[in-house]
Amino acid sequence: MGAMNVAVLGAGIVGRTLATGWARAGHHVVLGSRDPDAERGRDAVAETGASGAAEHAAAARSSDVAVVTVPGEQVDALVAQVGDALAGRVVVDATNVLAPGAPDLHHVDALRAAGATVFRAFSTTGWEQMARPLFGDQRCDLPWAGPDGPGRDRVEQLVTDIGFRPVWLGDDAEALELMDALTRVWFRLAFRQGWGRRTGLRFLTDDSRPDVSQFHRRFGPLPQELWRRAWDCWAVTRAPIRVRCARRRRRKARARYVRPRCAIRPPSRA
Ligand SMILES: NC(=O)c1ccc[n+]([C@@H]2O[C@H](COP(=O)([O-])OP(=O)(O)OC[C@H]3O[C@@H](n4cnc5c(N)ncnc54)[C@H](OP(=O)(O)O)[C@@H]3O)[C@@H](O)[C@H]2O)c1
Repeated sequence: MGAMNVAVLGAGIVGRTLATGWARAGHHVVLGSRDPDAERGRDAVAETGASGAAEHAAAARSSDVAVVTVPGEQVDALVAQVGDALAGRVVVDATNVLAPGAPDLHHVDALRAAGATVFRAFSTTGWEQMARPLFGDQRCDLPWAGPDGPGRDRVEQLVTDIGFRPVWLGDDAEALELMDALTRVWFRLAFRQGWGRRTGLRFLTDDSRPDVSQFHRRFGPLPQELWRRAWDCWAVTRAPIRVRCARRRRRKARARYVRPRCAIRPPSRA
């Protein structure tokens, strides 16, 4: 996928960090700000390598993807400010509501109501991981959610370009709840449990897992999910895989009773 026009709406620490990563990856980044001509805005452009700063509506209108990075409590004000500029656009909600006891941390509904195709990403970790997603040689995972349609590839590419391994959670209400839950896990570990802000998420899976569709094709009619489970079980126990499959047993049993064709007869003892 080629370079994209990315609007980063909000030039705080998250907005500047993401803008730096995407500008470095070759994207054309515009920083959205309420006052793009202020010295702060010019400094942000110079610091990040963005192509420029513009008012939020103008930045959003010229974008392939707009990423919202204003304080959670300000998203409604931002949506009111930009009018119809988000309609029909791919928008990433990176915001969190930080008020204690808030039922949801995201603003996906408000952004959808503005007519955008909305994804949720960059909300489950601190900006420090966005600046440096590597811990030694381990790459941080970034869970994200949103529709499996136009826009998904673009958002996945942007997550990858920051340096994360993208972990797509799906596109239903539960995926958004899980995203919020992971944010809460991060907050708890970073602050209540004393791990500190340099805390990243990593999900482990067995990279040596074979393509189970091969088993399915070669060995028979078990659903792929059962092959996958059998493999996962074997990867842990190393016990022989015993697949109970009545049809295969019957087929094997028939095969045993096929009389071999043999041209040379053994000599008779008589
Ligand atoms: N900090 C983190 O590590 C982290 C990690 C993940 C997610 N988040 C979430 O990401 C969002 C940004 O966090 P941050 O730490 O970067 O915040 P921040 O440093 O406070 O920056 C937010 C920016 O939003 C703009 N803004 C504020 N009120 C606005 C309004 N009413 N309309 C339009 N723009 C407005 C401001 O830019 P202008 O004054 O130039 O307009 C400001 O620079 C928050 O929702 C936060 O919860 C933060």
